[in-house]
Amino acid sequence: MYVLCLKTLFSFHSYVIGRWVVLSCSEDLVHMCQSSANISDVALSIDRGQWGTAQCPQGYAFSLPQTGYVNRKLYVAATNTNTSHVWINLPASAK
Ligand SMILES: *[C@@H]1O[C@H](CO)[C@@H](O)[C@H](O)[C@H]1NC(C)=O
Ligand SMILES: *[C@@H]1O[C@H](CO)[C@@H](O)[C@H](O)[C@H]1NC(C)=O
Repeated sequence: MYVLCLKTLFSFHSYVIGRWVVLSCSEDLVHMCQSSANISDVALSIDRGQWGTAQCPQGYAFSLPQTGYVNRKLYVAATNTNTSHVWINLPASAK
């Protein structure tokens, strides 16, 4: 059995904001972080890691885009740092 995780896959050349795809949790990626005080405040993790292992800045927690606006904030944060793939806190499992 393999545990799969979801990540966002951004396109830099289209209006598609974000697409969720499934891949192995063992890939090292930056994580989506969200302020616990303000869900519109999105940041990326300080380091990269396997799904669920990267560190968020203080006051932020590993999260997922709950709204289109939050998704847009994640897109901006990712494009600003040339990040094409971001782990989101939505695990999926498959055999
Ligand atoms: C929440 O965060 C967003 C994005 O950083 C910001 O525009 C907004 O002003 C913040 N809201 C509050 C109440 O701090
Ligand atoms: C992102 O990539 C562009 C084009 O390759 C480059 O000009 C820019 O310096 C990069 N920005 C960062 C933050 O790495």
